[in-house]
Amino acid sequence: MRVVIIFLLSALLPLSLCHGRDPFAWLYSRQSYGSLQGDTTGGACPDECDCPPSFPVAMYCDGRGLTAMPTIPSRVKYLYLQNNAITAVPDSALVNATNLVWLMMHYNQLTSDAIGKKAFLKLEGLERLYLQHNNLTSIPSNLPRTLRDLRINHNRIEKITSADLEGMDNLTILYLHDNAVTEVGTSLKALKSLTLLDISGNKLTKVPEGLPEPLHQLYLESNSIDALPESFLGRFTQLQYIRMAHNQLTDKGIPPNTFNVTGLVELDLSFNKLERIPPVSTTLQHLYLQANQIKEFTLGSFCSIVDVTNFSRLQTLRLDGNEISRQDIPSDSALCLRQASTIEV
Ligand SMILES: *[C@@H]1O[C@H](CO)[C@@H](O)[C@H](O)[C@H]1NC(C)=O
Ligand SMILES: *[C@@H]1O[C@H](CO)[C@@H](O)[C@H](O)[C@H]1NC(C)=O
Ligand SMILES: *[C@@H]1O[C@H](CO)[C@@H](O)[C@H](O)[C@H]1NC(C)=O
Ligand SMILES: *[C@@H]1O[C@H](CO)[C@@H](O)[C@H](O)[C@H]1NC(C)=O
Ligand SMILES: *[C@@H]1O[C@H](CO)[C@@H](O)[C@H](O)[C@H]1NC(C)=O
Repeated sequence: MRVVIIFLLSALLPLSLCHGRDPFAWLYSRQSYGSLQGDTTGGACPDECDCPPSFPVAMYCDGRGLTAMPTIPSRVKYLYLQNNAITAVPDSALVNATNLVWLMMHYNQLTSDAIGKKAFLKLEGLERLYLQHNNLTSIPSNLPRTLRDLRINHNRIEKITSADLEGMDNLTILYLHDNAVTEVGTSLKALKSLTLLDISGNKLTKVPEGLPEPLHQLYLESNSIDALPESFLGRFTQLQYIRMAHNQLTDKGIPPNTFNVTGLVELDLSFNKLERIPPVSTTLQHLYLQANQIKEFTLGSFCSIVDVTNFSRLQTLRLDGNEISRQDIPSDSALCLRQASTIEV
């Protein structure tokens, strides 16, 4: 049988080569290794997965209709389990997988009840954990403190507690968007390396307390936030991008000078209930205010003084979907907004 297959393939070979790309290249390269088996250190590759002989620390089990965890050889560092129908991670499933650095489990059917309390406990070198698009109602307990990138968006999480994230000193990326979070308490405060927080598409009614100071990007859009705390941006020295579109913000809910902080590059306040343009720093480059109820173009929101060195660095200004028209923009705006390439009204 094997002889027949090889004969057939060699008959196809010249044909496929003349198309420039050889669809069977993977097969020949495996044969040239003289073995289809590959590295078995720490256990053989399970039949339902692929462990490329040229990259034996990776195991590919994605998109194979799996409903349970496969056995994992201990050599594996990069494990791809996404796009399956796995429902549970029992305490025993990862006991031998102590070398994992990446664990990709997005797009499965995981529920919080079906994840063992100690399932992730032994993963002492795990840096990247993808759990997005499952059916989780809480952050799994005892996640490795070594994580740098945790994605758990598109689940059904309602609450985040301090114990969930405590001690994750190296976490830099946290995706929590599209859950049902109403309450985060002070759980985010301890994340001393966090630079990107996406908690958009949840049910927050206020800005989370104690946001980590190293944040560069803060995404809070599509929540129900109607007011901001006093000098809420004062603590951040690195924040460059704030997205708060699709909330319930009013002028009254924004303390004076909230957004007049240097360092901000992009501010998105579109789809809120603002009636005035909030004062912003002259260093801001992109301001999105479309679909509010703004009735007046206040040049003073961009420049309190205009001279050779004092002018706004704004490049993009979106004001469409408000209650103003192009005639409402004063003619001396050009001096202040001298770098604006896009002004939409
Ligand atoms: C872990 O390794 C031990 C010893 O090799 C083996 O008996 C056990 O079945 C393995 N467990 C899993 C879940 O792979
Ligand atoms: C997960 O949620 C989806 C959509 O809400 C549902 O169709 C599916 O049955 C759920 N699966 C489990 C295992 O609960
Ligand atoms: C964070 O990373 C540093 C440097 O790689 C490492 O020494 C430290 O143990 C890590 N911290 C945690 C909590 O894993
Ligand atoms: C922003 O704050 C500075 C001082 O920190 C002030 O001089 C400037 O007038 C303020 N800008 C606006 C538009 O209010
Ligand atoms: C802006 O104007 C103020 C007051 O005239 C001046 O002190 C300052 O140096 C000017 N330049 C900048 C970049 O703020």
